[in-house]
This record gives sequence, structure tokens and C-alpha cells, in this order.
Amino acid sequence: MSKKKGRVFSGARPTGRQHLGNYLGAIRNYVELQAEYDCVYCIVDLHAMTTLDQLHRIRLNTAEMALDWLAAGLRPEETILFVQSHVPQVTELHTILSMFTPLGKLTDLPTFKDKVRLQPQNINYGLVGYPVLMTADITLYKADVVPVGVDQESHLEFAREVVRTFHYRTGRQVLIEPQMKNTEFPKVLGTDGKRKMGKSEDNQIELALTPKETEKVVRTMVTDPQRQRRDDPGDPDVCNVFTLHKSFSSSDDISMIDRECRKAGIGCVDCKNLLAKRLNEHLQPFRERRSELAKDPQYVWEVLEDGARRATIVAAETIAEVKAAAGLT
Ligand code: TRP
Repeated sequence: MSKKKGRVFSGARPTGRQHLGNYLGAIRNYVELQAEYDCVYCIVDLHAMTTLDQLHRIRLNTAEMALDWLAAGLRPEETILFVQSHVPQVTELHTILSMFTPLGKLTDLPTFKDKVRLQPQNINYGLVGYPVLMTADITLYKADVVPVGVDQESHLEFAREVVRTFHYRTGRQVLIEPQMKNTEFPKVLGTDGKRKMGKSEDNQIELALTPKETEKVVRTMVTDPQRQRRDDPGDPDVCNVFTLHKSFSSSDDISMIDRECRKAGIGCVDCKNLLAKRLNEHLQPFRERRSELAKDPQYVWEVLEDGARRATIVAAETIAEVKAAAGLT
């Protein structure tokens, strides 16, 4: 690896085709960070197993997600893109680090309590150890910086504590205490204008849609509920169509809509058509690259295999150091 500012690691669950929320909240940052850091991006299939009941989806979701990331600009010649379970050392490190983790810390985490509330019928052991596995991800690859949203802040703080405990108890500084890089983007709402955009909510706008499909979903978007008729003035500040314009349209478009919506000079249909047009313009290069890459269904798997091979070189070294520090050799 070339020497840049340090190493970035981030992980995401295999959720299949990516949507505008993934793009604005994560993918854009992943792409940009490549200029300054050596980047390692991981599709965390083991983490996904803690909540998934449809295990057969993991493979297809992994391929679709990786394809979107590559089409969006991840450069596999420099960046390591791989699947978590393809580098089994992470499970070994997870087990070792678990011995340095007080159980009460894990069960106290708000993220764990949320899961208990969300899936009371499936409070599995993996769910409790989720942050330990995440700590193993980050430290196995000696990451300096971890770009995540605020919802992961408690996990990052936890990871730093485990690293400190490991160093203190073994007396050896072999791991790196990772820094969190807050890449928070204001929550992207779905087409319902209410809940966070997500596949499980079925309110997403996928990047890989065709222009026609994009127009169609954009037309279903919920706008200012106070604006019932074409002649009613609207309030762009409560309209999610306007919010998306702010990410994808020119400043001229944005000020025009802001002005005209308030005096009913522009209707919701016009406003949505313009959004679909701007989205389609913005996403055209992405879509061209995606269909180019998709012509060879093996391509994604070759990239992931090569990524795992390169990740293993780093992982094997770290595991050897950790075991030596822990007195296991
Ligand atoms: N917990 C993260 C999430 O749900 C995913 C994740 C797993 C991760 N391992 C990671 C993120 C390591 C950053 C670093 O979003």
C-alpha cells in the first residue's frame, strides 16, 4: 500500500441495491476518502446474520451492493474491497477480544437494547457480541480512521476501550485505537417523506433504476401535506422533494423552487419532474458504468476475491502479533 494519511476502514451490511440514502450517507464519502487514505471497505456478512432471517439473500445482496460501490467510483486497484467472512481471522480476533470485554458493557449498549426491542424472538448470542466483532474488523486491519454516522458512535467508543484494555492487560501496544470520522449526513427520508429511506421501509429510490423508473417513483413521493390543490401555496421546508433537490439540483433550481412553491407558481408535479430529471442527469455516469460492469457477472466476485487476498496479508500479521501479546504462542 502507498503511504497516505493513514488507513480507513468501514463496513456495511450487504443490503443489495443501494439507494439515495446510502449514496448521500456513505458511498460518496467512501469514494472521496480514497484520495487521502488507504481504504479498506468490508461487506459485513457475518454482522448481517445477527438480524437476517433470509440467509439465502446474503450472496445476491453482496454482489449487488459491491457492483453499486464499484460503479460509484471505488477503485479496486488501490482500495481493498472484500467480504468479511472471506477473511476468517476476524472471528479468531473476535474470540480473543471477547476475553477483554465485560459482558455488562455489551448488554448496556443502547444499540443492543434497541435490537432486543426490535426482535424479541431472536436475541441471539451474536447480537450481544456485535460490537466485539466490529472491534475485530477495525483492529485486524490496523485502521486509524473509521467513517461512520453518529449511530455508530457508541460502538467506536467501545472499540477504543477494548483496545486500551487489551494493551493494559497484555502490556503490549499491538493494536491501534481507531478515530471516528463523523460522516453524518442529515437523515435522508424515503418517498413517504416520514421515515428514513430504507429497503425494509420500502420507501427507497435505488441508484440503479432506469430514468423512466426514477420518474415513476419520484412521482409517488409525498410532498407538503398541507398543499392539497395545485393552487395552494406550499412549504418547501417540510417537503422531502425539496430536500432532495438540495442535493442534486443547481442553486438556481433550488432558489426558483423555494420561491415559486410558496406562491403556488410551481406545482408538485413540475417540481417532481425536475427532480427526476436532475437525478437522472446526476446518475447517468454511474448507470453507464454499472451496466458495463454487470456484463461480466464474474467481475464483482473476482474483485472481492482479490480484496480478500490482500486483506488476509494484513490480517495474518495482526493475528500473529495479537496472539504473541496474549501469550498464545
Ligand atoms: N455496525 C455497522 C453498521 O451497522 C457496520 C459495521 C460492521 C462497521 N463492522 C464495522 C462499520 C466496522 C465500521 C467499521 O452500520
